[in-house]
Amino acid sequence: MKNIIIGQSGGPTAVINSSIAGAYKKAKELGVEKVYGMVYGIEGFLQENFIDLGEYLENEKNYELLKRTPSAFLGSCRYKLPKIEEAEDVYEKIFSILEKHEIDALFYAGGNDSMDTIKMLSDYAASHNKKQLFVGIPKTIDNDLPIIDHCPGYGSAAKYIATSTKELIRDNSSFGKSRLTVCIIEIMGRHAGWLTAAASLAKGKDCEGVDAIYLPEYDFDIDEFLARIEKLRETKSSIVIAVSEGLKTKDGKFVCESGVSERKKDAFGHVQLSGCASTLADIVAQKTGLKTRAIEFSTIQRSASHLCSLTDVNEAESLGAAAVEAAHNGKTGVMSIIDGKGNISTYDIHEIANVEKKVPTEWYDNKKKQMKKPFLDYARPLIQGELTPIYKDGLPVHLVRK
Ligand code: F6P
Repeated sequence: MKNIIIGQSGGPTAVINSSIAGAYKKAKELGVEKVYGMVYGIEGFLQENFIDLGEYLENEKNYELLKRTPSAFLGSCRYKLPKIEEAEDVYEKIFSILEKHEIDALFYAGGNDSMDTIKMLSDYAASHNKKQLFVGIPKTIDNDLPIIDHCPGYGSAAKYIATSTKELIRDNSSFGKSRLTVCIIEIMGRHAGWLTAAASLAKGKDCEGVDAIYLPEYDFDIDEFLARIEKLRETKSSIVIAVSEGLKTKDGKFVCESGVSERKKDAFGHVQLSGCASTLADIVAQKTGLKTRAIEFSTIQRSASHLCSLTDVNEAESLGAAAVEAAHNGKTGVMSIIDGKGNISTYDIHEIANVEKKVPTEWYDNKKKQMKKPFLDYARPLIQGELTPIYKDGLPVHLVRK
């Protein structure tokens, strides 16, 4: 490969930049001349908005800083490529840009929607006799990519969620029964409950854990929710409940949408899911008279690189490197994957793009609203280890694009 290009797409994570770092290092080891970064994903690529990653990463200190920088260093997008038969011109433009800059392989770090881009481009290349290679690098805090055991970004978000939940449980129990507060924590993950499930990791010898966990895989019933709180208040002096941003009632309506006029959708048809905890906190306060507090982890859970999991950082870096190695070996239309034992390989993108992996039903007790042991055994290794930020003036330093 003479030159290559890397892009980032979808919601950022605390470790998506580690994948860029890993891909860059591997490309240099393999003798690639130029490693371009597309600014704002494929949307920026179409405007030839590139940077030369070498200008940043040849310096070892910057490499270490990039691994400690949250958000998408290159900039991201939520852009869906049109169907090939409907917009050949878009694909021709992409390939002419690749040819113009002598780019032999394109890498895209993203989740299930973003992997659609790799699928479409590799399909186009196959049907139009193009030689360029297209490889996906997995990334999503949601952990809902199929085939892969767990996804880079998840371990760090899970570590943040478990840590902050543990701290909130301490705070919420400060006042005792006379000032019982119902604290409802809203956690991301859209239609898959992996992140919300991570709140269960807070439980330990020094923490009683959350009182209930509500996953988006199950219909949400407000009467059941209120009855549970009434039952808990009989014995408890603090109630903390984790809810998914994507909770839906039996009629298919998002809890967060009740009382809100229609919300905008992104290119993939997703509405912004936010406000579930505050909706529920208002209802609980009204119906029970208890003090409530709504906490929305929102984008903090995916940007908290000061609390990232070293395991996650290392895997993100390795999966970025593995994607470049795969292209070096002639592979295209694949994504790099990792299994439960840490073995890395690649898999056909057609089995991955646009598919969502849900939390297995046998890992959740829907009566007790708690995660079961197999989930804890699965998730705990993913949050192990820390990567200390590099501090200046008391704050972590980040690497930013010029
Ligand atoms: O796809 C990852 C994710 O973080 C989801 O968990 C969340 O619903 C979504 O992104 C939020 O996206 P945005 O930042 O575009 O509102």
